Amino acid sequence: MKKMLIAGNWKMNTNAYEASELAKAIVTGTMNEKMNTKILICPPFINIPAVSEIVSTGQVMLGAQNCFSQPSGAYTGEISIPMLQYYKCDYIIIGHSERRQYFHETNETVNIKLKAIINSNLNAIVCIGESLEERQNGQTFAVLEKQIKEGLMNVDSSFASQIVIAYEPIWAIGTGMSANTEQVQEAHSFIREQLKVLFGDKANDMIIQYGGSVKPENALSILELPDVNGALIGGASLKADSFLSIIKIANELLSD
Ligand code: PGA
Repeated sequence: MKKMLIAGNWKMNTNAYEASELAKAIVTGTMNEKMNTKILICPPFINIPAVSEIVSTGQVMLGAQNCFSQPSGAYTGEISIPMLQYYKCDYIIIGHSERRQYFHETNETVNIKLKAIINSNLNAIVCIGESLEERQNGQTFAVLEKQIKEGLMNVDSSFASQIVIAYEPIWAIGTGMSANTEQVQEAHSFIREQLKVLFGDKANDMIIQYGGSVKPENALSILELPDVNGALIGGASLKADSFLSIIKIANELLSD
């Protein structure tokens, strides 16, 4: 059966009050129905304690947008995986294109963080995706292959179920211009093939999310694609109504 993970990446948005209100609305809005899809919200670090209490009563899981690979020590300004585990974070996003672009995240640092996350029994959402220039130059598959090979290097297949891939074409993030359904399915099926090279048949059960301007209006056409297992949502996850609409669409698709 198809698996789905609908995740909200709040990025650097919400103060503690706004984060609590948004989390409450999402928890309440998903309270009375059996959820077939998994639901995740990833607030800024500083709002994780407040949101952690709120999600503890519902069907919504908690995640972080980044972490450092060491468990503790003299790393000024960093946040460790055990700190996130204390607040019951289940997922950590790594390699987001904004972190690659502005904060020097590379396939190598993604690989180090990934191993630390899965060894701590948490789940990682590894973001990959090509720039507009790379797509126009016909390099999309080469870029994705390199990001997967290097980002997931030397990871044992026993960890496959703890790894989510988020395909996020950079040109579709925050632009309102989502990739079209052919582009999405083509990339996702390519990604699954690459995962099969690494993990064999376990790749068939792995979650591959699409991210980039997902909203209630285009969610169905994207989520129903065979190799799409959910979405990583930025802008539309900051409004409870639109995030809940996307969750509903995913849930109905799974109950068919
Ligand atoms: P967006 O962001 O939905 O605002 O395009 C997606 C993401 O960056 O994860």
